[in-house]
Amino acid sequence: MAIPDRLDRIPESGIRRLFELAGRYKDVVSLGIGEPDFDTPQHIKEYAKEGLDKGMTHYTPNNGLKMLRDAIAVKLKKENGIEADPDKNIIVTIGGNQAFLLVLSTFLNPGDEVLLPSPYFVTYGAAVTLVGGRAVEVETRLENGFRVDAEDLRKAVTKKTRCIIINSPNNPTGAVLTKKDLGAIAEVAVENDLKVITDEVYEKLVYDGAKHVSIASLNGMSDRTIIVNSFSKTYAMTGWRLGYAVADEATVARMTKFQMFLATCPVSFGQYAAAKALQDPRSREATERMRSEYESRRDYIYRKLKKIKAFTVAKPQGAFYIFPRIDGKDDSAFSEKLLVEEKVVVVPGSAFGRYGVHHLRLCYATSMKNLEVAMNRVESFMCRSA
Ligand SMILES: Cc1ncc(COP(=O)(O)O)c(C=O)c1O
Repeated sequence: MAIPDRLDRIPESGIRRLFELAGRYKDVVSLGIGEPDFDTPQHIKEYAKEGLDKGMTHYTPNNGLKMLRDAIAVKLKKENGIEADPDKNIIVTIGGNQAFLLVLSTFLNPGDEVLLPSPYFVTYGAAVTLVGGRAVEVETRLENGFRVDAEDLRKAVTKKTRCIIINSPNNPTGAVLTKKDLGAIAEVAVENDLKVITDEVYEKLVYDGAKHVSIASLNGMSDRTIIVNSFSKTYAMTGWRLGYAVADEATVARMTKFQMFLATCPVSFGQYAAAKALQDPRSREATERMRSEYESRRDYIYRKLKKIKAFTVAKPQGAFYIFPRIDGKDDSAFSEKLLVEEKVVVVPGSAFGRYGVHHLRLCYATSMKNLEVAMNRVESFMCRSA
């Protein structure tokens, strides 16, 4: 199938329609968009200005600024227990988002299958389709906290399966995989000689003392694992468009070749600022402040949703989303009605794959005040429709 046809096969994001509709109303409270409401910490902004003043206005190497790759390698060793050669195993990308198309292009052939624990972050399905692969959704269940069951993955493997994409902490469910979960997933990957792409962009946003573990740090996994990470959520830098991938040498070399023709490199002074940010203890403090604020909001929204009978809800352990089920209701119609009648934006679960149906995604990366207004409106909406 030709690329234009593949593009046509990718459905419009269900999220977009709702935002267009929201644009018609005043006084809308949005729990829709998945990005931090915080501004980038001031010292990181200062580093970007410093970069400009130092003449960081040129192209960087296609795999990213050397000082940033060095800083990422140090971070990986210290925080994730992963050895990575900054010249061979790391590529800086234009956000985490860009990495999926780059990496899937390095090994996926038309007709190859990719296992996607579902519901899943929308980019995965689109990137798989675009490179000619086939996304195979594997259900995760609310009753299991939306954690991936390795047995379900095992059952979905065929001769054509090449890869599993996991995402912990998870968008849209907030699930965090334990070391045991990851060990079981790793076994499936090794048994069937599969690659694992692990999306760790929310690694710093975990709650109740949960620990983020990278599957790449497990025995024998580093060669078959590709880590995707980003500065967007950790440092509230969504608009900077800066992420990175960590992989074996051949994969990084191919991704770098693609990047050369796609974008050359990410923005140079942004890369400089990110390198400095990684080395500055103030960045860790800023992340912790945001994490702790998200945790309070998570507690609040979970408490509120739990009281509403029509919802079944699992307590999210990470990221900044909660994913309640509304049994027997069409999630798209429900979201639209909630917007029209109460001016609250939530995202229908079906936007995140077939196992997202009958669910809603609420993003709590918004002020407590907004959350309170939104939840009061949701409560009166539910009272009326009960
Ligand atoms: C799970 C997940 N992965 C990756 C991304 C991409 O983020 P960015 O491209 O801003 O790094 C997002 C953004 O929302 C996300 O939720």
